[in-house]
Amino acid sequence: MDKLVIRGGRRLSGTVAASGSKNSSLPVIAATLLCGNGTFVLHNIPDLQDIKTFTQLLQHLGAETTFSDNTMTISTEKVKSVQAPYELVKKMRASIYVLGPMLARFGTARVSLPGGCAFGPRPIDLHLMAMEKLGARITIETGYIDASMDGGKLRGAHIEFPVTSVGATGNAVMAAVLAEGMTTIGNAAAEPEIETLCRFLKAMGANIKGIGTTELKIKGTSSLEAVEFHNIFDRIEAGTLLAAAAITGGEITVNGVIPEQLKAVLKKFVHAGCTIETSENSVTLKSPEILVPTDVVAKPYPSFPTDMQAQWIALMTRADGTSHITDKIYHERFNHIPELNRLGAHIEIRKNQAVVHGLRKLSGTKVMSTDLRASASLVIAGLVAEGTTEVLRVYHLDRGYEKIEVKLNSLGADIKREQYKEFE
Ligand code: EPU
Repeated sequence: MDKLVIRGGRRLSGTVAASGSKNSSLPVIAATLLCGNGTFVLHNIPDLQDIKTFTQLLQHLGAETTFSDNTMTISTEKVKSVQAPYELVKKMRASIYVLGPMLARFGTARVSLPGGCAFGPRPIDLHLMAMEKLGARITIETGYIDASMDGGKLRGAHIEFPVTSVGATGNAVMAAVLAEGMTTIGNAAAEPEIETLCRFLKAMGANIKGIGTTELKIKGTSSLEAVEFHNIFDRIEAGTLLAAAAITGGEITVNGVIPEQLKAVLKKFVHAGCTIETSENSVTLKSPEILVPTDVVAKPYPSFPTDMQAQWIALMTRADGTSHITDKIYHERFNHIPELNRLGAHIEIRKNQAVVHGLRKLSGTKVMSTDLRASASLVIAGLVAEGTTEVLRVYHLDRGYEKIEVKLNSLGADIKREQYKEFE
């Protein structure tokens, strides 16, 4: 297994480029299942474990893919199987994204139920509710979702989500683009990743109105075409790099980002005392002498993202006072806190809120990654911990960050990737 060995105390400075967004790549790749002709060319796809796992799932279904220099080609012409097996689905929950497109194209789909999750319950009831509204019959047996149609096609409907869900919105839109008639989706997720999926579907020939808002209107069409598409950059990776710079008292520019997509996060950096400058597609952050404690509440877009919550907690361990970080999306997403406390932080958990008592001296030790963003928060803390921090099980980090240690080292960090045996 790999670990990252971080020697803390180096100030980050310089310029770095954001990678392509993981969470928009996944639904975009799934959406290629909707079209049985031609070859898609997708640019700016990050070279990540999660993308490889998802590609394996598509290949299992019969898709032909290539990947080189962050460009993926996909042809789903030969897709015959409609079964997403447990062995592949258990590796990543986003596999559920194949449900909507397979049902829409083939009228039937069999997808293993995703398993548990490291940070609390992550149900899929809203995905199933959306498919049922569109006319699918769903049964769950022996760990599999069986979705089918009584012949014919899905039919447009009104879907009102009681809770905003990125994944369920994505699945509903992908199913609705080939449904007969009009579908309206209320309380849709407006995250840039879903906006990107909708733009991709529109480029394929789908008729979608309200893109980027919480009310989507989709008029079904009978066929879509393969297209060439440029994926957006990863706003969460960009935010993570900015937090890494801010904790070290550094000054960096992240290129490639769309500042508007990071607005809520940038506002918090400013509150914390950082100077932020933006251009059309870059953000420059300059750290203050001492960080100001800054509360955040993670909620659906355009609010502060839950995927930046762990990194913000790490940052606030160096702020001059107490800050409160509340997660209204995942109430139990706090696995990083005991590990940050092992580095010397003083963080309490009160229900879905972390109370961070700042300015404690952090000192390096071995810490364990438990999920993607938790790992990122440990790396951020390791950058300022005295001595050496070893972040174990970095495969979690590798699921969602492309060459993170290479990027951080290019900014002045001292991080080595080493192999280790878990029980030596
Ligand atoms: N929810 C339900 N029922 C459902 C689906 C969701 O109750 O059927 C609830 C969830 O329990 C949660 C809330 O709705 O409380 C929002 O979950 P959502 O469905 O939006 O999450 P997701 O689509 O499974 C995506 C990202 C996550 C990110 C969340 C929230 C991908 C592949 N994953 O997950 O990203 O945290 O949206 O923004 O896009 C990550 O990148 O580290 C990550 C976990």
